[in-house]
Amino acid sequence: MGRALVAGNWKLNGSRTGNVALVRSIAAGLARDRTVEVVVCPPFVYLPDLAVTLDGTGIALGAQSVSAEASGAFTGEVSAGMLRDVGCRYAIVGHSERRALYGETDALVARKFAAAQSAGLQPILCVGETLAERNQGATEQVVRRQVEAVMNHVSVDDFATAVIAYEPVWAIGTGQTATPEQAQDVHAFIRGLVAARSGRIAAELRILYGGSVKGSNARALFRMPDIDGGLVGGASLDAADFLLICSAASGSC
Ligand code: PGA
Repeated sequence: MGRALVAGNWKLNGSRTGNVALVRSIAAGLARDRTVEVVVCPPFVYLPDLAVTLDGTGIALGAQSVSAEASGAFTGEVSAGMLRDVGCRYAIVGHSERRALYGETDALVARKFAAAQSAGLQPILCVGETLAERNQGATEQVVRRQVEAVMNHVSVDDFATAVIAYEPVWAIGTGQTATPEQAQDVHAFIRGLVAARSGRIAAELRILYGGSVKGSNARALFRMPDIDGGLVGGASLDAADFLLICSAASGSC
């Protein structure tokens, strides 16, 4: 397993001055010898500024989404190559808010994953079931469909640098976290899906949990064998809470 990873998904939040204060507090509070990799994912427009602010801190930059297209007549899109150009290392693809609010299908998410991967970004592929799907006992079926849509479009080797985030939709922004056992079950299932194609890639793959991760619940989640870090929304906007999550992940892999 690689280093544990904690990624902050700022969503539609931030301002030029507020961002600098937030990342400076995070950088100042991170242990120098940490074994956790830390990423922040601000809105697109702030990426170039933050690349400068983060220089030398060891904190990496990620985008919240990426176009499936490389260039051309696609008004409003931002390509993976552009994100690399301004200093991004990661790109989130298939976040449930993109799927639910902006109509992103499994097929589009797979194309976005491929675009990110081939431009040298590390995709963070988000998957997860809704509450209705969980209550119907369809969690594994949904997660299988979402993961296999991507694995059928790219090669399993393309997961060597990728990350998967299991984010049950019912836990996102609700304060209702999956229990460590509920999350572990799905993480093990996801690793098994990848292992069916390559045991080597599956063993190295980092699988993050997302959905109301906080300083107070992170340690119990990250202790589970198949949980390799977190994708953090709300709590990533609070330096003190985000730092607690990072320290919980440090050494958990
Ligand atoms: P949350 O969001 O931590 O606010 O639940 C997680 C996410 O949407 O990635």
